[in-house]
Amino acid sequence: MKRSFVVLGGTGDLTGRLLLPGLAELFEAGVLDEDVDVLAVSRHDWSDQEYQDWARHRLADHAPHVPEATRDRVIGRLGFLRGDVTEAADLRRALDRAGDVPVVYLALPNTVFRPTLEALAEVGLPEGGILAVEKPFGRDRADAAELNRILHRLAPEDAVFRIDHFLAKQTVLNVLGLRFANRLFEPVWNAGHIEQVEIVFDETLGLEGRAGYYDTAGALRDMLQNHLLQLLALVAMEPPLTVDAAGLSARKGDVLRAVRPPVDMAGDSVRARYTAGTVGERELPDYAAEEGVDPARETETYAEFTVTVDNWRWAGVPFRLRTGKALRAGRREIVIRFKPVPHLAFTDEEPQPDVLRLRLDPDGIELEVNLNGAGDPFDLERRTLDIALPPAGLSAYGLLLREMLAGDAALSISDVEAEESWRIVEPILAAWQAGEVPLGEYPAGSDGPVPG
Ligand code: BG6
Repeated sequence: MKRSFVVLGGTGDLTGRLLLPGLAELFEAGVLDEDVDVLAVSRHDWSDQEYQDWARHRLADHAPHVPEATRDRVIGRLGFLRGDVTEAADLRRALDRAGDVPVVYLALPNTVFRPTLEALAEVGLPEGGILAVEKPFGRDRADAAELNRILHRLAPEDAVFRIDHFLAKQTVLNVLGLRFANRLFEPVWNAGHIEQVEIVFDETLGLEGRAGYYDTAGALRDMLQNHLLQLLALVAMEPPLTVDAAGLSARKGDVLRAVRPPVDMAGDSVRARYTAGTVGERELPDYAAEEGVDPARETETYAEFTVTVDNWRWAGVPFRLRTGKALRAGRREIVIRFKPVPHLAFTDEEPQPDVLRLRLDPDGIELEVNLNGAGDPFDLERRTLDIALPPAGLSAYGLLLREMLAGDAALSISDVEAEESWRIVEPILAAWQAGEVPLGEYPAGSDGPVPG
């Protein structure tokens, strides 16, 4: 099937920083070639040539790892159409011009998703067409449900990609391999043996000029509602029958349905924003003083909550999710802390329980265990088995685009998962808005309001 690729929001930051580089990687890997045309749609008054010039610069900045000759091949496939993505007539022109069987990608601010999809629903999507919608998917559960209703008028669920690029990160996919392609872990992967699960994504980056989006989203909507809850779903899900869209979405959906939001909001959730400080060599101002930020919104740059998964496997195990910007160290990992051994044969020692760490960016897996020491063999020592994984061949967006063009939605958030994630997060947002949890502060470059 010959596909075309239609990018709504084709001159946006996301397109230039992630989508075009992802496409270039696919050309370089030989997954795509000259038979895919890309049509970018936006309100700019540009010609094809002007768009190609813009794309050339974006690719030079964001895909320097792809040889220039390959970048030029991608640029040769790019076309541009001036249009308003919320107007049915403009979308009809875009689909007519793109031809073939389109992947329509909404690389747009999420406030425009609904009018765009409504306009698209007037036009209809050609048979076999695929829809990709960026994140955050809606503002709340009702909005997500409404988006789902419109999407289902346009295409079957297995032709819809609700984008979450974390699903295409190497170590994230390795959660599946580690758990379900080995006999070793699954028998102890439950409340009987696991004390706590932590999912941490600390960033050293600050706002980076994204106030227009970020200041109305905040860390909870930007990261926890989607990326980190998806990681929780993969860590906690039952074994899938198949590793494809049907197999994974059913199991992830079950987990999210079982997640109970915090009851004690002040005890089990934290929100904070950074104040001026130094991260590495960089001086950052107060978040509230960053350009484009409205301090009265009280947008959080740090968010944390602890939930439980109320099912047979996980009852009582806390899952702590944490993310923040402008933190001292970019600690990004899933940490599985096991329970202590049932009987201590080493009477003088109190060994730490085993810890399994799945590191993200750079990817790796560490298992901290207790061994008899190299010195006195009756002493215990803490040792770490460390597997460093080489960088993935494709970036997360490269892999997502590959799967999308192949029509396989395994690395997508399903309709149920999107709505369930809002169900979990909504009471936290409401408690925060009601002032039940005070907005804390942490200096940029510190370990956050709560030490990592
Ligand atoms: C994005 C968030 O989805 O993920 C950003 O909007 C965040 O705020 C980013 O920085 C982190 O992902 P990655 O892959 O860039 O580390």
